[in-house]
Amino acid sequence: MRVIVTEDYEQMSKRSANIVAAQVFIKPDSVLGLATGSTVLGLYNELIKMYKEKDLDFKETKTFNLDEYIGLSKDNPNSYYFYMMNNFFKFINIDESNINIPDGKALDIKKECEEYERKIKEENGIDLQILGIGRNGHIGFNEPDVKFEATTHKVSLDEKTVKDNSRFFSDINKVPRYAISMGIKTIMLTKKIILLANGKEKAKAINKAINGPITPDTPASILQLHQDVTFIIDREASYYLDK
Ligand code: GLP
Repeated sequence: MRVIVTEDYEQMSKRSANIVAAQVFIKPDSVLGLATGSTVLGLYNELIKMYKEKDLDFKETKTFNLDEYIGLSKDNPNSYYFYMMNNFFKFINIDESNINIPDGKALDIKKECEEYERKIKEENGIDLQILGIGRNGHIGFNEPDVKFEATTHKVSLDEKTVKDNSRFFSDINKVPRYAISMGIKTIMLTKKIILLANGKEKAKAINKAINGPITPDTPASILQLHQDVTFIIDREASYYLDK
């Protein structure tokens, strides 16, 4: 495990964008695993800049998103589909048929999860996975639990997550209580991982993930067992690391 501590959010975004860009340069048909949330917005902006400056080409790149809320349609501004389109995809030259996001409106959620796993396998797995982290240590929507859920599955969202994510909704009651998320095994099978975090409110989760026991109660702690993971965090998020 490598830990890169940057001065601020901008540097965190630039460092991680360079890693994603290098991946796409080396292997233009890379399979990227993508995250949503506020942390990764700066990273997407940097990648869009590189694309506009003609330094990057996403024509052959394939993507799989980590998760999606159950019950929100693609045109709902709070769906992760809408987020990805409006914060990243519409600004780059990705082929729409190469974009994969779980369908939160699928009639058969179990089947949707199985299909998602099958598609990832069909692409020979994810080359580079981008992760954020929840204040409770979740990755994707793998919430603290008594066991690690292996593959893509339906999750019941933690109260803390519902509260955290309610800032994007007009009313906390509008936050979906369920989501589809890649599982821990799905994430652990990715070839390379970068996890981004910024701000003091993430500092405890980061410390637990890096230095704590490996436990499903802090889902990100499993990353200690991954062979190629880099945490790229700003100084505030590193607050407890050397305490
Ligand atoms: C959401 C997403 C996660 C993300 C996390 C952190 O719940 N499902 O993939 O990492 O929240 O979000 P933020 O970056 O907004 O703090």
